[in-house]
Amino acid sequence: MMNTLRAVSVFFALISVAGVASAGGDAKAGGPKSELCQGCHGADGMSVNPECPSLAGQKPGYIYKQLEDFINGKRHNDTMSAMAALAGTPQDMKDIAAYFASQKSMSGDNYMLAPKPDNKKSISNGKKLFMNGNPRTGLYGCVNCHGKNGKGKSATNQVFPVIGGQSKGYLAKQLKDFRAATRTNDPANMMMDIAKKLTDAEIDAITDYLASL
Ligand code: HEC
Ligand code: HEC
Repeated sequence: MMNTLRAVSVFFALISVAGVASAGGDAKAGGPKSELCQGCHGADGMSVNPECPSLAGQKPGYIYKQLEDFINGKRHNDTMSAMAALAGTPQDMKDIAAYFASQKSMSGDNYMLAPKPDNKKSISNGKKLFMNGNPRTGLYGCVNCHGKNGKGKSATNQVFPVIGGQSKGYLAKQLKDFRAATRTNDPANMMMDIAKKLTDAEIDAITDYLASL
């Protein structure tokens, strides 16, 4: 728990840095520049494929950081690493990030290929874990970093991504990738430490909750 709290304060110190790195994106210019991305991530940033994350209403600084991480190999996915290399200049990447960030925030109601979860018991278990974590295993509540309804901490905080309304398939894959350390680009190993405490059943419940928002 102490490590977690220390890492949280490190993150708050990082926020202004991430904000500066992504500043200056032009959402209007980003629309046409993002055409290449829309086939998988949706014209309005709502993906129709559960393996592709939605980007609608995502934090622009977070989108920009992920693109940089794919380009410099800190995060790897065969499909997306190849696509990130085609995203253009840093200014193009900022404009594309601003475009997706300016869309109506992602919602579980909008997935065409993945129905919104409706298992009430699982959703309610997932919500409890999201809010309170699991005191028995030392799991820290997700709400502390990802904010109310998983919509992020505040408009200016670019470090913690929006996860509420994201696709279940994508969320579960990321949590398992962090747990297996095949995704290692999270600052201060924060998500890897958290994911290691999650069982498959907990991942199933939390992602049911998040995708139902
Ligand atoms: C052929 C399909 C495809 C195209 C085209 C594509 N992506 Fe992706 N993208 C993916 C997949 C699949 C992932 C998830 C990778 C993983 O599982 O880690 C992803 C992940 C991402 C992420 C990480 C999101 C998050 O929540 O962490 C960002 C940001 C992103 N893509 C931006 C873009 C941008 C910008 C473009 C256009 C330059 C683009 N993508 C084009 C398939 C695609
Ligand atoms: C101490 C802060 C903190 C806590 C607590 C936390 N997260 Fe995170 N999470 C982060 C950060 C920071 C990132 C972004 C990592 C990066 O920059 O690549 C992240 C990323 C994620 C992602 C990947 C999002 C994407 O679009 O790819 C998922 C999924 C996620 N967290 C789920 C959870 C869940 C579920 C919990 C609770 C069990 C949780 N997080 C608790 C800080 C936290």
